[in-house]
Amino acid sequence: FFDGHADIWLFGYGSLIWKADFAYLERQPAFITGWARRFWQGSHDHRGTPDAPGRVATLIRAQGEVCHGMAYRITPDVLAPLDVREKNGYLREKVPLTFLGQRGDTQSEKATTEGLIYLATEDNPAFLGEAPLVDIARQIAHAHGPSGSNKAYLLNLAQALRELGSEDAHITALAEQVRSL
Ligand code: BEZ
Repeated sequence: FFDGHADIWLFGYGSLIWKADFAYLERQPAFITGWARRFWQGSHDHRGTPDAPGRVATLIRAQGEVCHGMAYRITPDVLAPLDVREKNGYLREKVPLTFLGQRGDTQSEKATTEGLIYLATEDNPAFLGEAPLVDIARQIAHAHGPSGSNKAYLLNLAQALRELGSEDAHITALAEQVRSL
C-alpha cells in the first residue's frame, strides 16, 4: 500500500485526535474535504459489548463538507500494529490532507499533502449507519466496553475538537443530547 521508506501522514478523526498510543515524529492539526465524521460504526469490542454495542466515529463521503482532525507523521513500520484494526474491517484510503495554519488561521498559507485514513464503510460487519440523533445519543449514553464508556469517547472527542478550534456541528449536537439524558 505504501512503498519505500517515506514517512506517512496518518489523519486521525476519532480517538486518535486525543490519544495516540504509537510513536510519531510530529503532529499537526489538519483537515480533509469531501468527508464527514459520523457515529455510524458499531463498537462491540471497545466502547460497547456484543449485547449493547456502542457507536464510534467513521467517515462518510460528503461533498462540500470538511472534517477536522489531527495528522501524525509516522514511519511506515508504525502502521503494522495499527493495521490490526483492519482485522475489524477498517479500510485504508489515501486522501489529500491540508494542514491548518499555526493558530488555525484560515488566511495563512496552507500546505496540502497525501494523508492516510482508516474508515469503516457499510461493508463492515459492525457498521450501523444512520439513525435519529436521539437514538444515537441514547445508545452512546448506555454503552460501556473494555476501553471505557461510550459517553467518555464522545465527550473527549467533542472537547478535543473544541480545543482545536474546529467544532463539528454533528458532534456538538450529539454531545449536547447525551449530556441532557
Ligand atoms: C481515528 O481516530 O481516526 C481512528 C481510530 C481507529 C480506527 C479508525 C480511525
